[in-house]
Amino acid sequence: MAIRRSIALAVIALFAASAAAMAADEEEEVMSLYQPRDPCPQVERIVKQAVDEEFKKNNQITAGFLRVFFHDCFSRGCDASILLDGEWDAGVNRNSVHPRVRQLMNEIRVKVNKQCGDQAVSCADILAIATRDAVAAAKGPNVTTIPRGRFDSLTPQDISKLPSPLAKINDLLTLFTQFGLNDPADLVALSGGHTVGKTTRACGVARPDFRDTCNQNGQQVLDVITPNEFDNQYFVALTRNKGVFSSDQDLLNHTRTSALVRSFANDKQAFFRQWATSITKLSRTNWLTPSNGQIRRDCTKPNSKRLLISNVIDADLGFPASA
Ligand code: HEM
Ligand SMILES: *[C@@H]1O[C@H](CO)[C@@H](O)[C@H](O)[C@H]1NC(C)=O
Ligand SMILES: *[C@@H]1O[C@H](CO)[C@@H](O)[C@H](O)[C@H]1NC(C)=O
Repeated sequence: MAIRRSIALAVIALFAASAAAMAADEEEEVMSLYQPRDPCPQVERIVKQAVDEEFKKNNQITAGFLRVFFHDCFSRGCDASILLDGEWDAGVNRNSVHPRVRQLMNEIRVKVNKQCGDQAVSCADILAIATRDAVAAAKGPNVTTIPRGRFDSLTPQDISKLPSPLAKINDLLTLFTQFGLNDPADLVALSGGHTVGKTTRACGVARPDFRDTCNQNGQQVLDVITPNEFDNQYFVALTRNKGVFSSDQDLLNHTRTSALVRSFANDKQAFFRQWATSITKLSRTNWLTPSNGQIRRDCTKPNSKRLLISNVIDADLGFPASA
């Protein structure tokens, strides 16, 4: 009895030690970007609470965040430019990004401003960690490596690089490489974002055999097996020739991507591991700094000119000093 108990304690101690080591690593990752200190550790809890609460009412928020985050990072970089008028309503973003994402971002913004001051965490950082948390809420992986330290764009950005659902895999590989996602596994894993969400306007671009379903209800789920769960069934669907866009289905036929599709279809953990690596890489795309970006007090509007001057002064001091 005593022996069994001490073994149990040893196991618990071992577990606690490795959990502590992991937490220390994560902290180091965030801290290295915030010298001399993290100006708002509370943001992680504030965002997770808000996203979890929203997900209970509206599980489509996961798809909303994923698409908005991807489109943000693939304009100029992960700088929350997509939340500004002029990009939010531009081209393919118009009517295809969820309005609720922008509202929820500002609800979170208000809470963060209250807890940490309005110059501690950028909208771009909030968007990155909210997307991570929305994936976890839909039973996806818990990604612990999303760094913070981005600054927000002053202006909306050009979205002309966003890929077409008719794009060829070679062109998608080239495009992703331009954004630092140079491993074909990045394209395959991130295409796995289509494990949730719907297309409403894409009857014309969905593959011909999907047009009927699409026309009947005006909406086509992107993962035909488990449409609302963040899992590997999108890849299983590809192996059954049930990918909705040709940019999805063709991943199974390209020499540089087909083995990856099969491996993710066979092994959810393999997909989750690669997802964690690739979404972290995506989240690092082309950050702005205090000299060319700002921390928006309202995620949908650049700060006024007077406030911009105070940002520059803060930047001279090192990290924004208001927290
Ligand atoms: C690889 C190239 C990609 C192409 C060509 C592509 C294309 C598309 C298209 C055409 C739609 C339908 C939009 C509509 O009907 O309004 C869509 C939806 C979506 N995309 Fe992608 N996408 C790509 C990559 C990604 C990536 C990397 C992510 C995230 C990691 C992502 C996440 C989503 C989500 C979640 C939806 C559903 C949105 C909703 O339910 O409102 N996509 N995508
Ligand atoms: C993520 O963490 C939550 C809470 O600790 C846990 O319930 C869930 O199973 C984890 N998800 C995965 C995929 O490991
Ligand atoms: C794609 O690959 C699958 C399986 O390898 C094959 O059955 C199918 O015919 C291929 N499709 C095209 C269009 O090449």
